[in-house]
Amino acid sequence: MAAEVVVVGSCMTDLVSLTTRLPRAGETILGHKFFIGFGGKGANQCVQSARLGAKTSLICKVGKDSFGNDYVENLKKNGISTAFVGQTTDAATGTASIIVNSEGQNVIVIVPGANLLLNFEDLKRASDVICNAKVVVCQLEITPAVSLEALKMAHASGAPALADLDPQFYTYSDIFCCNETEAEILTGIPVGNLEDAEKVGRMLLQRGCKLVIVTLGAEGCMMISAEEPIPKHVPAGKVRAVDTTGAGDSFMGALAFYLAYYPKLPMEEMIRKSNCVASVSVQASGTQSSYPYRKDLPQDLF
Ligand SMILES: Nc1ncnc2c1ncn2[C@@H]1O[C@H](COP(=O)(O)OP(=O)(O)O)[C@@H](O)[C@H]1O
Ligand SMILES: *[C@@H]1O[C@H](CO)[C@@H](O)[C@H](O)[C@H]1NC(C)=O
Repeated sequence: MAAEVVVVGSCMTDLVSLTTRLPRAGETILGHKFFIGFGGKGANQCVQSARLGAKTSLICKVGKDSFGNDYVENLKKNGISTAFVGQTTDAATGTASIIVNSEGQNVIVIVPGANLLLNFEDLKRASDVICNAKVVVCQLEITPAVSLEALKMAHASGAPALADLDPQFYTYSDIFCCNETEAEILTGIPVGNLEDAEKVGRMLLQRGCKLVIVTLGAEGCMMISAEEPIPKHVPAGKVRAVDTTGAGDSFMGALAFYLAYYPKLPMEEMIRKSNCVASVSVQASGTQSSYPYRKDLPQDLF
């Protein structure tokens, strides 16, 4: 039973405290609310893809601890295959400790933990699943060399950001997707408008991938293809955004779904539909908790 969409990536438990203001060094303050959320770019993308109806498998590592156990349960609830979700005693499940004040400003500490212990052996064990997938998605919240190895095994699609990214990431990615911040990290060029997005897209294309997608928040995406001379702006629908965290992962998960299940659709159409899915996710709060299910979406998306 091969998965059509395989994600090799991260799982993080979000530990969120809401306070009126951020604490100073050495200070203890009272918060008024605490909640735990499921995050990590890899798992986020896999969850969105699964909720649209994709048969998915997540290749990742969590700790042999209560957060890890809960994460495995969460993946199962979303219908994701956990055959290659490892649990280690050598590190804790990845966490993001987040403090948010009443103005919405935050401080965040990420401890990748078990995510960094996902290794080549784990990929080898999953090689059948990786090689038989229609779409393989990688990000950079695990050891970059492991992401790259997964891309080589699959020669598939990716979504990373790192300043001096190994050039092979571009040559082994069919589709390279990044947001404005990531585009600036990768090229040194700040993205403030559509022309900037075109420019960074062309630069990234020259590094060897076939298609670059720069996501532009409320503006949708810029698509820059090796096959078409003119970049295409694919706008997102106008919506009232409540919480945009994880929108990029919703977009990426949706795109993986369309690539796997509607491979004959024109790329622009896949991006337009993925914009629609992501724009639904920004209208609810939280990350995975805001990702729509197929049954709740306009049926002309399918
Ligand atoms: N305010 C918004 N209105 C409509 N769609 C949005 C909005 N913000 C994000 N999106 C959708 O989510 C996608 C990713 O958002 P973006 O902010 O670029 O990524 P990230 O979450 O990585 O920062 C966009 O391409 C768009 O489809
Ligand atoms: C882009 O994604 C990164 C995570 O890789 C995130 O930290 C950043 O805030 C995002 N930028 C925008 C403009 O949304």
